[in-house]
Amino acid sequence: RSTKFFDFKVQTKRVSKLCKSKDIVTINGKFPGPVVYAQEGDAVTVKVTNESPFNMTIHWHGVRQILSCWYDGPSYITQCPIQSGQSFTHKFTLVKQKGTFFWHAHVSWLRATVYGALIVYPRTGVPYPFKHPFQEHIIILGEYWLKDVVQLDHTTIASGGSPPPPDAFTINGHPGPNYNCSNNDVYTINVTPGKTYLLRLIHAGLNTESFFAIANHKLTIVEADAEYTKPFTTDRVMLGPGQTMNVLVTADQPRGRYSMAMGPYMSATGVQFQNISSIAYFQYTGAVLNSLSVTTKLPSFNDNLVVQTIMDGLKSLTSVNLSKQIDANLFATVGLNVQKCHSKTPRQNCQGPNNGVMAASMNNISFVKPKISVLEAYYKKINGTFTEDFPEVPLQFYDFVNGAPNNIPNNTQSLNGTRTIVLEYGTRVQLIFQDTGTVSTENHPIHLHGYSFYVVGYGNGNYDEKTAKFNLVDPPYMNTIGVPVGGWAAIRFVADNPGKHDISLSSGAPLGVWFMHCHLDIHQSWGLGTVIIVKNGKGDPETLPHPPTDLPRC
Ligand code: C2O
Repeated sequence: RSTKFFDFKVQTKRVSKLCKSKDIVTINGKFPGPVVYAQEGDAVTVKVTNESPFNMTIHWHGVRQILSCWYDGPSYITQCPIQSGQSFTHKFTLVKQKGTFFWHAHVSWLRATVYGALIVYPRTGVPYPFKHPFQEHIIILGEYWLKDVVQLDHTTIASGGSPPPPDAFTINGHPGPNYNCSNNDVYTINVTPGKTYLLRLIHAGLNTESFFAIANHKLTIVEADAEYTKPFTTDRVMLGPGQTMNVLVTADQPRGRYSMAMGPYMSATGVQFQNISSIAYFQYTGAVLNSLSVTTKLPSFNDNLVVQTIMDGLKSLTSVNLSKQIDANLFATVGLNVQKCHSKTPRQNCQGPNNGVMAASMNNISFVKPKISVLEAYYKKINGTFTEDFPEVPLQFYDFVNGAPNNIPNNTQSLNGTRTIVLEYGTRVQLIFQDTGTVSTENHPIHLHGYSFYVVGYGNGNYDEKTAKFNLVDPPYMNTIGVPVGGWAAIRFVADNPGKHDISLSSGAPLGVWFMHCHLDIHQSWGLGTVIIVKNGKGDPETLPHPPTDLPRC
């Protein structure tokens, strides 16, 4: 095993996009940020030095941080922000993990420009479970904003409205030809006829789920959230913010230039968004670029069934220890609802976190970030930072999806609080996420830090124990699940601490304090999240090491 060192300098940088120049926050002046390459089993050390005027934290999305929770990165959950002029060195090991990950800012909405790929190759000599591609390319879907995103976060919270759409959707930071002044601001992959390419897709955007497709080409999904899947071939894929996906594509069409596009997805509106989608080029060597060969035809992006089809097609390639780990009899069910304060409630009664007038909640609790990190408070036994009383609520209580948004009970007012879920080491957990969708129009990409989980069920409408169909054979193993608007998703994982030296469970997850939240930043700002604390059980020899000496102070 080797140690890989990286230097991350948080710097503002002047860029010109969409006919306007502005300062954006970057790592090392790069947008998107530098790619971190590593290999399974590597130790990774990243020194983050904040030379910008903004508070910063960096999160390693999808990395389980086994016994290294201090380095996970979500602000006020595992650390205070790195203030201007300070630095913090992250140290973690990629234990039994490989695939496409990403890193991103985890404070306010700074992920808008502070993100990059984290690519973890298999151990030397271990092949992919599919034919080795001719080349690999990283494709990061993003959203570009001309406004200051920290300001935008505050004004959106205060106004109670929805955030405006971004000024551009981007592919690897490039808006593409659909936008003003962007004819040359286009990402292009040059491909050789007959060859197969691996595209590592990462959705780093803030507030919009997106389709991705290449005109006239099929995509074969082989990995989702850095876990291999059984190959599944489709015309287009859908990713929510926080999701990654590897797809194979073969250059098997007539030589030409094909659009590789992202299209925002908003299931309930049915709005055709193709006009503002971002376009990149999938360009054959030797293509003659007359207008006929430039294929701009794109598949329809507003088809609800696509999402269901992709979810149905996502199957875990290897379900190691699956039966043992997801034996239904061993699970306790915690009902989670996902909602926003409903529209009939007078505004003054709908105080969200941070003095906002909108609230989003889980089990009616709008999560308020504390003044110091939950992990620090937990570790040092500092009182008054959080409580351990996240309510368990019978699912029937939330059985009002069908009445939304105009015929829902009045007892749905959410409460503000930093109320956490505390689990004993080894608890076998089933969470049912039920979207109560009173005002929302999109899926909620719920992300759990520190773990991957099996997505055992997924459906529209209200979850019903009697009729819900679960896949307990080869469910996808993910870290972010798009809970369908007006629907539900069921996940299972073992809150185990593999700090014992045999880290053999593929679902292995450490002791720690783990944020679980909607990866749409606006929903996070409104409080759609909670924290899962996994306690070290008796007889488990390993505990979380002491906090690093350079851990940022608030
Ligand atoms: Cu990628 Cu808590 O997030």
